Amino acid sequence: MGIHFGVDYYPEHWPRERWETDARLMKEMGVQVVRMAEFSWFKMEPAEGEFHFEWLEEAVALLDSYGIKSILGTPTAAPPAWIIQKNPEIQPIDRQGRRRHFGGRHHDCQSNPDYRVHIRRFVTAFAKRFADNPGVIGWQIDNELGNSHGDLCMCDSCKRQFQKWLGRKYGTVEVLNEAWGTAFWSQGYNSFEQVGTPLITAVGENPSAMLDWKCYCSDLIVDFADWQAQIIRENCPSHFITHNFMCFDNKVDYYDLAGLMDFVSNDIYPAGHWQKQPHQPDNELAACHDVIRGYKKKPFWMMEQQSGMAGWEIMGRALEPGQMAAWAMQSVAHGADAVVFFRWRTCAMGTEQYWHGILGHSGNPGRIYNEAKRLTETFTKYMEEFEGSMPCPEVAIVHSFRQNYAFDIQPNHPQLRYVEQLQKYYKAFYDRKIPVDFVQDMDDLSQYKLVIAPLQYLMTPELEQHYMDYVADGGNLVLTMRTGVKDATNLCMTDRELPGRLGDLCGIEVPEYDCLLETTGGVLYGKKEYEIEKWCDIITLKGAHQIAEYSTGFYKQTPAITENKYGSGTVWYIGTEPGEELMEDIMTYITRICEIEPLGTAADGVEMMTRESEEKVWLFVINHTADEQVYHLHGMYTLLEGACEEFLQPYEVQLFEGYKRRK
Ligand code: GLA
Ligand code: ZN
Repeated sequence: MGIHFGVDYYPEHWPRERWETDARLMKEMGVQVVRMAEFSWFKMEPAEGEFHFEWLEEAVALLDSYGIKSILGTPTAAPPAWIIQKNPEIQPIDRQGRRRHFGGRHHDCQSNPDYRVHIRRFVTAFAKRFADNPGVIGWQIDNELGNSHGDLCMCDSCKRQFQKWLGRKYGTVEVLNEAWGTAFWSQGYNSFEQVGTPLITAVGENPSAMLDWKCYCSDLIVDFADWQAQIIRENCPSHFITHNFMCFDNKVDYYDLAGLMDFVSNDIYPAGHWQKQPHQPDNELAACHDVIRGYKKKPFWMMEQQSGMAGWEIMGRALEPGQMAAWAMQSVAHGADAVVFFRWRTCAMGTEQYWHGILGHSGNPGRIYNEAKRLTETFTKYMEEFEGSMPCPEVAIVHSFRQNYAFDIQPNHPQLRYVEQLQKYYKAFYDRKIPVDFVQDMDDLSQYKLVIAPLQYLMTPELEQHYMDYVADGGNLVLTMRTGVKDATNLCMTDRELPGRLGDLCGIEVPEYDCLLETTGGVLYGKKEYEIEKWCDIITLKGAHQIAEYSTGFYKQTPAITENKYGSGTVWYIGTEPGEELMEDIMTYITRICEIEPLGTAADGVEMMTRESEEKVWLFVINHTADEQVYHLHGMYTLLEGACEEFLQPYEVQLFEGYKRRK
């Protein structure tokens, strides 16, 4: 497409006279694309049916005259006050039954039929108006769907939709009663009409009902996006459609949402004030990019890449010199074909006054602008070559929204978080410079030498069979604690000991377990004692052999980690959450058995990642630290960018080119 760097731009926040300066400065910085208008409904339709697209057309044309293309966002995450005045019931209801009102954003119910009428009118006019505009190349639907929709919406319209959804899923209310286990606490229903949205209860909630509710909410968001995408495609068939996802966020099943998009986009704020301090660790960011690539198994765009200090009422840390560029190139290393920085100029008004951009409030180019300019000058030409290329990892980690929902509903241990657990496994590979893909459980796994499937809590006969086939055919699989505990509707399995049929695969049984509340435990592996956390499965060997044993608890000296040959493959069962050290040593052992080669060696904070085309491999070496670093590569590569091989300046990004790895 020839477009690789851009900014999120809000010309409507600034006087018309400033726009030309913005366009010139953008061009000089190497900007090729802007995203605009995703929060400008009132400006484009100040009263029902009165459309004012002229200002946006003017901005698009001006930018186009500087060679900058536009992506337009449908502004449906912030309906204007006149819509709310006409249809106040569009405003969502929270779990407490309270209405959430106008004055911020996301004050909309996505199932509300009146809201859909407003959207159809507006989006149709919007798409028609820009369908043939030479400056426009694509659309973003809504903005960060699911964001701020944590517990929303519990209104009557959502209740009716939920009932219909349940009707389609279960057919009869008797089947629902069975699937939800409503014999407990007299929760049986006579008809679907009696089922409500999960408003706050006196105490407790039904885990099966909650799982369906979360899946319904996800489906509603997907439907909302799909329906908008259809309006755009009918009126404007030649443009691409994308959406800005939020890494691992779980309000909507991103695999489903990705299906509607021409490509996936992502938003990332490593130094947001809510992140771990001083910023989200580079391994976690890397995992975010990998999961984003996994949603569509395609390269993606960064639609909001952090460019300045981020915060609303409170701010995070300032970006150190070089840090923004390192994070941007990290996105590219993991599969981004374009990087759009949020935002062009720091806003002087509204909630986001302190969410800083490429330019500060003054609008004068400064340190960040110059850094972005150097970045585009160095990398635009390579980005043209990278386009469409993909990382090709030998290791996959299984990721599932349904498992995530189930652990949100019942964490088992108060600190157990599904995504955090995935991140812990991921880090063991990232630190050892071994690239990873995220995959869905039922994906074809045969291309991977090693598959890690943590917390396979909800289980189906099909998934059991899938894992057994993968290993039987020579795959290497890691399964963990809390596997095979529940069926697909979140009821506990009762037909055999844990982990169900996967016990045959693993050569074990787990008749008992222990929850490490407010304590940690120990494991003996080799000659060393290691810390473990949260959970201990108490394992009986049924053919597997033990590779680590507990050193604490009444189950001391019983197996904690086992290994089993099955068909032509091997499966490991990890009955606990390994502390960081044990995780590292166990994964070193497992990757050695699987003959997985790291890209090189370096300290933590130095990242190595590759993208591959038909013929070429590009290797990125990124220093995420403020210190000089040394590293060593395991392959034959030619340095394309960077001062000195095997040596990195603080936050330096080096680029190498090499030949294809032989598989
Ligand atoms: C999000 C949104 C943007 C903006 C930024 C900063 O990621 O997509 O609209 O609000 O955060 O808050
Ligand atoms: Zn609603």
